[in-house]
Amino acid sequence: MNSPVMQGLNLNAPAYVKNAKLIAWVADMAALCKPETIYWCDGSQDEYDRLCQQLVDAGTFKKLNPAKRPNSFLACSDPSDVARVEDRTYICSEKKENAGPTNNWMAPAEMRATLQPLFDGCMKGRTMYVVPFSMGPLGSHIAHIGIELTDSAYVAVNQKIMTRMGKAVFDVLGVNGDFVPCVHTVGAPLAEGEKDTTAWPCNAATKYIVHYPETREIWSYGSGYGGNALLGKKCFALRIASNMGRDQGWLAEHMLILGVTNPQGKKYHVAAAFPSACGKTNFSMLVPPAGFEGWKVTTIGDDIAWIKPHEDGKLYAINPEAGYFGVAPGTNTLTNPNCMASLHKDVIFTNVALTDDGDVWWEGMEKDSGNTPAHLIDWQGKDWTPEIAKQTGAKAAHPNARFTVTAGNNPALDPAWDDPSGVAIDAFIFGGRRSTTVPLVTEARTWMEGVYMAATMGSETTAAAFGAQGVVRRDPFAMLPFCGYNMSDYFQHWLDMEHKLEDMGHTLPKIFCVNWFRKDEAGKFVWPGYGENMRVLKWMIDRIEGQAQGQDTMFGIAPTYGELTWTGLPFTAEQFKTVTSIDKAAWTEELKLHEAHFEQLAYHLPTELVETKAALEQRLAAI
Ligand code: OXD
Ligand code: MN
Repeated sequence: MNSPVMQGLNLNAPAYVKNAKLIAWVADMAALCKPETIYWCDGSQDEYDRLCQQLVDAGTFKKLNPAKRPNSFLACSDPSDVARVEDRTYICSEKKENAGPTNNWMAPAEMRATLQPLFDGCMKGRTMYVVPFSMGPLGSHIAHIGIELTDSAYVAVNQKIMTRMGKAVFDVLGVNGDFVPCVHTVGAPLAEGEKDTTAWPCNAATKYIVHYPETREIWSYGSGYGGNALLGKKCFALRIASNMGRDQGWLAEHMLILGVTNPQGKKYHVAAAFPSACGKTNFSMLVPPAGFEGWKVTTIGDDIAWIKPHEDGKLYAINPEAGYFGVAPGTNTLTNPNCMASLHKDVIFTNVALTDDGDVWWEGMEKDSGNTPAHLIDWQGKDWTPEIAKQTGAKAAHPNARFTVTAGNNPALDPAWDDPSGVAIDAFIFGGRRSTTVPLVTEARTWMEGVYMAATMGSETTAAAFGAQGVVRRDPFAMLPFCGYNMSDYFQHWLDMEHKLEDMGHTLPKIFCVNWFRKDEAGKFVWPGYGENMRVLKWMIDRIEGQAQGQDTMFGIAPTYGELTWTGLPFTAEQFKTVTSIDKAAWTEELKLHEAHFEQLAYHLPTELVETKAALEQRLAAI
């Protein structure tokens, strides 16, 4: 053991931890946070089982009926701690301009002075878990290491599922290896002899999710939930990694990655960006519909992609995560059968409802069984019946309730999902949730136009996302809450990538823009979505193969009705028009909104984007 004793606290570092910088940092953080003990996670199954039992004993976990959901648990959070807190999330770059207008900013020195008293003694009475993790396959040249210090056993067990977590990380780290330091506390210290009075300790009054991009540090205070606390995910793999990517010439993106294999066995890889709550997990696990026999879709990742150019002229992507932290409500065997199959065992559920026979339930499951349970315990521990729901509108599961499950449970998992080299990307897709205006699918005529489409994409907000419902929130590249630096510099990084790749002799992936969510005049979705999105995916592949000509429109190249495969789906040319038409008046308004969006992002906004807008206006005028 490396066991310096500091102020009566044993560091407990195992002998196999050789990284002096890591040991010194843990010692510093322990001196600041003052935990009762320090525990170094080894990532073993035995450890996972032990920590889960500890969480059961503490009342944080309820063990589900093993006959129904083997080795699975339900956690219900404090009602004040149910989602990412974007208004409490900060990018503390030295210069405010480098955080940009879309991020909260505070000067690093000021933030450090703010956090110092909060972190001083924040882990009193608790264990500090040292959680070593690799984002990406261990040792992959695309992967990076993080160490999370947390006083939450819930976080430690979730990190075991969501990342490659454990002892082997220290081998990769070696004596001198580098890591991203991530400090997390629920912000609820216990006085001498005090015991928790709640199963979900957190700090209802004060939360800070803080990133220092220049020094690549993450500090998270006050929340135990999701992206606020599982610091490998949004904080590291997007906000910090987007900074690393800009400096080192690669891309850290809010994208799923899927493989699609045609009946001849030829395989393509697609990376697709959608804002939160737009069905990324569903798309990444798509089951091709009737009429697509012989086609196969396989999942590499459902949320985040790290993409690096390679000497062979291609962009290679890995999924930095190892599990899925997906939204449960709305998931069922109709919307996502592969996901439902993934959830049979070894799952941590958070904020779903508990059935009387010790299983889980959430809104949307009634579509599978045909009925709603007569009685449940809802996510807040209260009795729930369909009558109560009718009278009060109470949801059995919180709309942002989640499952945490290992990628290995996914029956559609791609054999290359864990390949350290990653997979070569053939196309990028950008999509938002728009009931009008944006057509079902268009292909950008140039990389520049694709960047424009991505930079201006927007999404109508839902309960799981932020703000009032139905309002279009511009969410460039689906990175609005996740880009760790000035958004316009990020656009420039994407534009520069074209020239960098061309100079290296790369074939650029095609860029597509999609919208599954157009509604008719009665307010009903017209496109059936889910597995039927395969029809759009196939058209994209036909475009890659030069087998579909498409037609030129104001907003890119669109399919003709005859170019989509309709076998097995009654969808008329009239309906197709409803989801693909370009409405001149709506687009005139839309381009005005792009203008306002660009005004907000004026600092360092690439002039090419303004020129592309002018070109689109000209095309629109000619309609
Ligand atoms: C997520 C999100 O949890 O995007 O993946 O909010
Ligand atoms: Mn996401």
